[in-house]
Amino acid sequence: MHILIWFALATSIGHYIWRMMRRSSQLPLPPGPKGLPILGNFFDVPHEYQWLTYSQWGVTFGEIVYAEVLGNPMIILNSHKATTELFEKRSGNYADRPPMVMANELMGWGWDFAHMRYSDWWRRHRKTFHQYFQPRVVPAYQPIQIEATNTLLKHLLETPQSFADHVRQHAGSIVLRIVYGYDVKTQHDYYITLVNEAVRGLSLAVNVGSFLVDFLPSLRYIPAWFPGANFKSQAKIWSKSASALKEEPFITFKESMAEGTAVPSFVSHNMEKLRNSSSPEPGQEDIIKNCAGISYLAGSDTTVSVILTWLLAMAHYPAVLAQAQAELDRVVGNDRLPNFQDRASMPYMEAVLLESLRWNPVTPLALPHRAIHADMYEGYYIPKGTTVIGNAWGILHDENLYPEPFKFNPDRFLAKDKPPSPVDTGAFGFGRR
Ligand SMILES: *[C@@H]1O[C@H](CO)[C@@H](O)[C@H](O)[C@H]1NC(C)=O
Repeated sequence: MHILIWFALATSIGHYIWRMMRRSSQLPLPPGPKGLPILGNFFDVPHEYQWLTYSQWGVTFGEIVYAEVLGNPMIILNSHKATTELFEKRSGNYADRPPMVMANELMGWGWDFAHMRYSDWWRRHRKTFHQYFQPRVVPAYQPIQIEATNTLLKHLLETPQSFADHVRQHAGSIVLRIVYGYDVKTQHDYYITLVNEAVRGLSLAVNVGSFLVDFLPSLRYIPAWFPGANFKSQAKIWSKSASALKEEPFITFKESMAEGTAVPSFVSHNMEKLRNSSSPEPGQEDIIKNCAGISYLAGSDTTVSVILTWLLAMAHYPAVLAQAQAELDRVVGNDRLPNFQDRASMPYMEAVLLESLRWNPVTPLALPHRAIHADMYEGYYIPKGTTVIGNAWGILHDENLYPEPFKFNPDRFLAKDKPPSPVDTGAFGFGRR
């Protein structure tokens, strides 16, 4: 079987030589850690907590850093200026994603349009998703959110020690209701457990460098029993939940539709539209199913992460908690619960929310982008096909933007010359996609 390893190495040597010969640009590559021949920065790119290393590189090499692993060029952007210029202003060139072999092929996340290559198939997903979740229609879901929040408060009062479970149920029940019309009734709902399982592997696999197979795609052919190939057996376990996540709630929806008990939802609306259509596009039902699955995934876990971060911050910063409580008492009083209309009157609470998004961002490296064509930035050459990573964590902890970045300090967003909102500096990823 070591023939496979040789084959893999030979491909990357070939690739390396080809790249050396092909490099036509006179411009220098961005600075970065000095690598070895062929292996490149194989030993420099960590397998976890990559954002900490990348931030260190930022200190040493600057806002744009180049690394290469086994012939795969990689660029890390460590500044708000660089991510804005490349991912926003030149979004057309960076809307693609790297192939993500581990996530998309081995773990079975190819149906997740957040990871899909830039294509028509991707565009159709985006359209279906966007129609239902654009900012204009989001207020329609507020009654569902209020109801779930009342349930959360009750649960927190009864068994505060299980706060993390309650928060998971809260986020999951909102999104399952909106997407599938599914009502979460129990604490240990199967669908809520399922999303936790699914997210565990995915959150590793989206960070370039976690799995060697992303740099050496031919390794995907190695059998699972091969020494060092346990990524294959892991992928197999994780792929079960990746598939269940999209198939099972959809089956439940179809059953409820057959029984006539389906309530209006993203899926029911789109399935009705599909049935109404006189010339349905091929694959549209799959697109509906995929978009539903990804909304369910994205809507559950990210929200949980923000709320748990906020709880952690409140436990560590009692003065912030007291000030937020005072604002709440002043605006809402003591004889009702807050509602969405109160939000505009609570600037401190808004600042606490922004600081929660900044302090411990949900996706520290967002998702990797890929340069469709060769490009240049500040006199540096960006080769075609480079994986370009925005170090969201690093930017959200850039002391030029956010002084004393490790301190949870909502006041920074109330100052006269306040810093940019974390929403614009990577807390929700980069670029228009
Ligand atoms: C489907 O057609 C029916 C009957 O014409 C209409 O009432 C309904 O609004 C349509 N549904 C969608 C989602 O377009």
